[in-house]
Amino acid sequence: MKVTKRPISKLSQIDFTDLKFGKHYTDHMLVKTYKDKAWGDSAIVPYEDFLISPANITLHYGQSIFEGMKAFRGVDGIVRLFRPEKNIARLNRSAERMAIPEMPDEEKTLKELIELVTMDQDFTPGHMGSSLYIRPFIFAMDPALGVKISDTYCYMVIMTPVDAYYGKNLQTLSIYATKQFTRAALGGTGHVKAAANYAQSLYAAKKAQEKGYKQIMWLDYLEHKYVDEVGTMNMMFVINDTLITPTLDQGTILAGITRESVLHIARDLGWKVEERRISLEEIITASKNGTLQDCFGTGTAATIAPVGRIGYDDGEDIIINNDTVGPYAKIIYDELLGIQYGKIEDRFGWTVEIKK
Ligand code: COI
Repeated sequence: MKVTKRPISKLSQIDFTDLKFGKHYTDHMLVKTYKDKAWGDSAIVPYEDFLISPANITLHYGQSIFEGMKAFRGVDGIVRLFRPEKNIARLNRSAERMAIPEMPDEEKTLKELIELVTMDQDFTPGHMGSSLYIRPFIFAMDPALGVKISDTYCYMVIMTPVDAYYGKNLQTLSIYATKQFTRAALGGTGHVKAAANYAQSLYAAKKAQEKGYKQIMWLDYLEHKYVDEVGTMNMMFVINDTLITPTLDQGTILAGITRESVLHIARDLGWKVEERRISLEEIITASKNGTLQDCFGTGTAATIAPVGRIGYDDGEDIIINNDTVGPYAKIIYDELLGIQYGKIEDRFGWTVEIKK
């Protein structure tokens, strides 16, 4: 792969005690273009702005997908990627749904990404909760105003040192279950990481924030009864010692890699796990009768995000664990981050070590 190095590193300009999500970027990025019905060669180049046609089709019609993965600096100083092959596979699934050409060789795609991470690994912060967030994305490049599938694309990978999305420490957040808006419907794009899913969520999230909540909890499109997911994460509830999470089979929920990892850990710990539809009504009832033991979100950016308060249209807020971090969220947080930071044995073979 062709590599062009940035002459002077930006590393010393970064204040690692103040890592706002997406504020700083590493020295390099990976770029590959698609034209004449084929992906070209990848190149690593200095991270910088680039020119785009005002008629670029992504700007107008949003034919764009992305991924989010992380590398963690372990307690032993070693940088490790977490299940990166899962992200590459999901990128290709998103590509198919959005009529974007898939990356033909997932192994090669991963190898190239690892080369980028290896080069810029010094940007990986070292404190608990922090990581190097890696954003692969593909967008249409045709300068064309007709609504059509683009003939040209750009694949890029950029990287940013971050703290957890919802704050440095494990703390609770509030969410609002909306009946007014819908995130995804049957046959739509809810199960893939299309940029458009996020664009349409912003107004609803703003409305939730105006009511004093951090994020929106989406309910199903048909009856506004069952939980789908929260803006940036999948949802988990613990009722009567059972971990319950919305099932993926409606095709309206993103198949989160953290979600899958948490379910795997929970089953390994011997917890009872149910992937099924869960209604807001069931959560309200469990809260009233004292069987709602925990509630948390899972996501690459969010990691494990305990939820302390759920608002909804026609009743009093549900308060979980007195708005403090719940016991199940804490166990999962310790297990997952333990593996990610090399504190406990990687018994599932999820991490990929980056060579120094
Ligand atoms: C991630 O968790 O990586 C996401 O994609 C959420 C992001 C939109 C902040």
